[in-house]
Amino acid sequence: MTDNIGNYALHAAIWDWGGHDRTEEHEYWCHYAAQYGKNVLIPFCAIGETGAYMAHRGFTTTAFDITPEMITEGKKRFDHVPGLQLSEGDVTDFYFDIPPADFCFATDFGHIHTIEKVKKALLCINRHLREAGILAIETGLCAKESNYTPNKTFYPKEQVYPDKKIWKTGDSSNDSKTGRCYISQTVYIENRNSNVEQFNHSFYLQCYPRDAWLSALEECGFEIRSEYNNREKESWREGDGFWIVEAVKKRTYPLSTDEVMYLLREYHGVPCMNRIEWLTANDMVKMNKHLVLCGQKPRKGDWLHEIYKNGTARYCLLYIDDIPVARGSVEPYSDAMWEAADIRVAREFRNRGLAKEILRFLCVDILSHGKIVSCRTERDNIAMRNALETIGFYLDGGN
Ligand SMILES: C[S@@+](CC[C@H](N)C(=O)[O-])C[C@H]1O[C@@H](n2cnc3c(N)ncnc32)[C@H](O)[C@@H]1O
Repeated sequence: MTDNIGNYALHAAIWDWGGHDRTEEHEYWCHYAAQYGKNVLIPFCAIGETGAYMAHRGFTTTAFDITPEMITEGKKRFDHVPGLQLSEGDVTDFYFDIPPADFCFATDFGHIHTIEKVKKALLCINRHLREAGILAIETGLCAKESNYTPNKTFYPKEQVYPDKKIWKTGDSSNDSKTGRCYISQTVYIENRNSNVEQFNHSFYLQCYPRDAWLSALEECGFEIRSEYNNREKESWREGDGFWIVEAVKKRTYPLSTDEVMYLLREYHGVPCMNRIEWLTANDMVKMNKHLVLCGQKPRKGDWLHEIYKNGTARYCLLYIDDIPVARGSVEPYSDAMWEAADIRVAREFRNRGLAKEILRFLCVDILSHGKIVSCRTERDNIAMRNALETIGFYLDGGN
């Protein structure tokens, strides 16, 4: 179920009612992003003003928002801007077919009301970033004490629209126990005939403790790079209520020069034709039969036992007429990402699509555990690279 986010739908057409010049804020994001590259991902974009500004300045921006009315309004205003892609999307579950982003920033995670959903969002963002791409999050941390700000009226800096006047009233309260900030606003719209309409815009923003953020980021494939307490980038200190965290998408692998790395973006699967089975720790005989068939030395002793005990991999074999002709493994690279690895086909069984079949089997397994699927291959292995691309992988590291 969608969290209650208030009435952004009715807000869309008058989103810029405040009459403030946002150039400084937009420039801030341009400077920030420019350190990392041109491709920028912007969740919670509302009507996409920042995305449009950045696109004007030469960035390729993908800006998205869950409220369809926001995107419709944004398209009315910015559809002509080259380099801007405005889309509807839920940050906790999105996929855009775009080149991996260099930089993503998010200032509105308060709308995500559980840490589980925050993690879903972080995983989705991670999937859209290039290796070592940057995610900057601005958020409030939990208030130390509860407080209440009484009802106030807010007027725009100057009235923005020729045919209507807008103002707002609102109060807010912070609950230190739950980490929630309740905001209750009424938006007033007076038309040319002095008729006043109003709508209510009430919701709460959820704060999380810094520790919860740090472990969520870590779990979703990020490393913390910096923590600030303001946009002037002064270091964050214990007790500061505002937090800017800059996280880098973990380099998934120290790639060797002859390797490339792929991540699965959208699985295009068909059922496997041949029998593929997971090996148990006791299946050393089957494994050795397969290794010999591949022209490799049989392994001695309790090799599979050791690997299974340490949790470094799980193996499967593909059988044709009961002969174990191909293998693959799943290697948990991190909590968030597992690798489809060590795919091998015995020489005389090559060119029959068996590697692709093993790869699909591994993808289905990894996806069923809710993990990101990665796969490395040699730069020159064109057959494997083609197989990866047909299945829905994209190149994330190496060339
Ligand atoms: C305060 S506004 C964002 C303002 C925006 N950063 C700007 O520059 O104008 C919050 C936005 O988050 C959007 N939103 C809330 N939950 C979302 C979700 N799960 N996924 C994507 N957008 C969401 C709302 O529709 C709303 O437009």
